[in-house]
Amino acid sequence: MKLLLIGLILTLINFANGQPKINAITQPQYGASSIITFDGDNFLTISSIKIGTSVCKLVSQTATQALCGPFSDKLTPATSKFIATLTFTTTATVTGDFKYATPQIQLYGIDYENHYFWFYGTNLAPSSNYKLAVTDTSTINLTPTPDSSASQMNFLLPISLTGGPCTFTVSDTLGFTYKTPLDTIVVSPTIQSISPSVWNATQSQVITITGIFFGNTVNVKVGGNTISNLAVTSAGAVFFDSPTGFISIKNVTIETSKQSVGTLSNAFTYNPPTISDITQVNEALEITAYDIGTDSKYIQIYINGNSTDFILSNNVIKVTVPPSINTGETNITVISDTQSVSSLFLVKPLLTNISAIPSIGGFVTIEGAFLNDCYFQIFYNESTLAKDLRDKDGNNLCDRSKKGDVVVCPTPVMPANTTFTIKAIRYTDNQNTTSVQKIAEIEGSVYFVETPSPSQTPSPTISQTPSPSQTPHSNSTDSSHDEDTPSNSNQLLPIYKFILLSFLLSFLLY
Ligand SMILES: *[C@@H]1O[C@H](CO)[C@@H](O)[C@H](O)[C@H]1NC(C)=O
Ligand SMILES: *[C@@H]1O[C@H](CO)[C@@H](O)[C@H](O)[C@H]1NC(C)=O
Ligand SMILES: *[C@@H]1O[C@H](CO)[C@@H](O)[C@H](O)[C@H]1NC(C)=O
Ligand SMILES: *[C@@H]1O[C@H](CO)[C@@H](O)[C@H](O)[C@H]1NC(C)=O
Ligand SMILES: *[C@@H]1O[C@H](CO)[C@@H](O)[C@H](O)[C@H]1NC(C)=O
Ligand SMILES: *[C@@H]1O[C@H](CO)[C@@H](O)[C@H](O)[C@H]1NC(C)=O
Ligand SMILES: *[C@@H]1O[C@H](CO)[C@@H](O)[C@H](O)[C@H]1NC(C)=O
Ligand SMILES: *[C@@H]1O[C@H](CO)[C@@H](O)[C@H](O)[C@H]1NC(C)=O
Ligand SMILES: *[C@@H]1O[C@H](CO)[C@@H](O)[C@H](O)[C@H]1NC(C)=O
Repeated sequence: MKLLLIGLILTLINFANGQPKINAITQPQYGASSIITFDGDNFLTISSIKIGTSVCKLVSQTATQALCGPFSDKLTPATSKFIATLTFTTTATVTGDFKYATPQIQLYGIDYENHYFWFYGTNLAPSSNYKLAVTDTSTINLTPTPDSSASQMNFLLPISLTGGPCTFTVSDTLGFTYKTPLDTIVVSPTIQSISPSVWNATQSQVITITGIFFGNTVNVKVGGNTISNLAVTSAGAVFFDSPTGFISIKNVTIETSKQSVGTLSNAFTYNPPTISDITQVNEALEITAYDIGTDSKYIQIYINGNSTDFILSNNVIKVTVPPSINTGETNITVISDTQSVSSLFLVKPLLTNISAIPSIGGFVTIEGAFLNDCYFQIFYNESTLAKDLRDKDGNNLCDRSKKGDVVVCPTPVMPANTTFTIKAIRYTDNQNTTSVQKIAEIEGSVYFVETPSPSQTPSPTISQTPSPSQTPHSNSTDSSHDEDTPSNSNQLLPIYKFILLSFLLSFLLY
């Protein structure tokens, strides 16, 4: 009866207070000390909370919510359930269970700029719980860097790793194992810079390649050619002597002992060619150029845009200039490998032969090279100008062959039995007599021709020369210039022969 009464009273109390009930337990963060929140009913008389067998310190309680913690029992793997037991002053208890949310790695990769291995995930434990084991040839253990966040862990990889397939194992100190596809990741050896990046094709230099994940470098290739004189290798730097001569493909490749390769494209260039001097030797030019290498296969020479044969000897390129070069300066272009240099050169005219001229005036035939854009002056007694062979507008009075090798000019009356000098002048800009010039001189002789009566005196100009042969459309059939041009000797030349010569010279010009 007594017992029945007590039971009734308890029932009444319970009825008055209601039954305690857990509706929800907030999920604590995996691996971190957390406050655990219980939501429910009739919590006011909680006297203690236990998680498993560990006591969780009661922080606060209301009728509907109780907080305990911080709870730091990290030993239970995230996959196991925790049983929470709430005990009330009435000695009644309620239990509930909860799990940590399962941590997951969702993305991962290598950040070659920062040399990080990183992974991104959800429900991760604080970074202090993570470890990364990386195995290239041996295993190293890494912890997250301070800039890791709640959702991303970064690990600084040593740049001395040997690039190639490496095993990556992420673990946490709580014992959770990550079933991720992390196992093998290929770490690429990465060339960051090459110094110097401008190479000398004629002289070997020590080249340093710097980068990451070179580890044991076994091979360096430049444009596919294996470097045989690989001098030193160490973490992140490889030294070698640059090969001489040009290499067309400018890729540099490094290969590790794991057969992993890293390539830097267009890794270097060569010093551009330079022209230091151009010297004319008769009809040839000797171009002294540097940084052109020694292999003529990599060299091209252009004269006024036309490809030209050449002979290379040390740093001197010898080319023959066509006699009919354009007016003004000649553009010499040297291309070595892929780079070029140009220089303008005023070719000096060459005079090789000159006919004797009659004292009464007539014509002179001049032979040589590079004469097609020259102007001519005729002197006697060394320096006395006898005639500037241009009219007052600067037009050339001489007829010139297109090939630039024969010129015929009118001559004035000259002192008999003397010598004369012809100057051939090339100007930088052709018409402009104030510009830079190159002059060639040749000496000839004036032979004595008995002065005819005044009515017959030939004029020194073409138009007044008393011969029909002056017209360019003469009916002369004589095709040989040399046979009929007067020799250099002071021989007398009958006037008819002189006329014939004029025919011939006109003919030669076309
Ligand atoms: C390259 O080396 C050659 C030979 O030693 C030298 O003459 C040349 O000046 C060098 N070029 C440069 C740009 O230093
Ligand atoms: C050089 O590098 C470029 C760009 O990476 C590549 O397309 C080319 O095939 C490479 N050449 C060689 C010979 O490796
Ligand atoms: C190049 O050569 C061709 C044929 O020899 C010639 O006709 C042309 O005028 C030349 N060009 C120059 C710029 O000299
Ligand atoms: C000389 O020729 C090169 C190649 O054809 C050209 O690039 C350069 O402009 C020329 N230089 C001059 C002054 O004409
Ligand atoms: C020079 O020209 C004359 C005729 O004008 C000729 O007889 C002689 O053979 C020429 N000399 C040379 C070296 O061409
Ligand atoms: C040329 O020189 C000679 C001797 O030196 C002299 O006799 C002659 O008069 C000079 N002729 C002229 C036109 O000056
Ligand atoms: C030039 O030489 C010729 C032959 O040697 C001679 O007949 C003539 O008188 C000379 N003329 C002069 C002006 O000296
Ligand atoms: C000739 O050259 C001079 C100096 O270089 C320049 O001042 C002048 O304008 C040029 N004349 C012509 C017609 O090109
Ligand atoms: C052509 O030349 C001959 C002598 O060589 C001459 O008799 C004739 O008149 C000339 N014909 C013309 C059209 O000039």
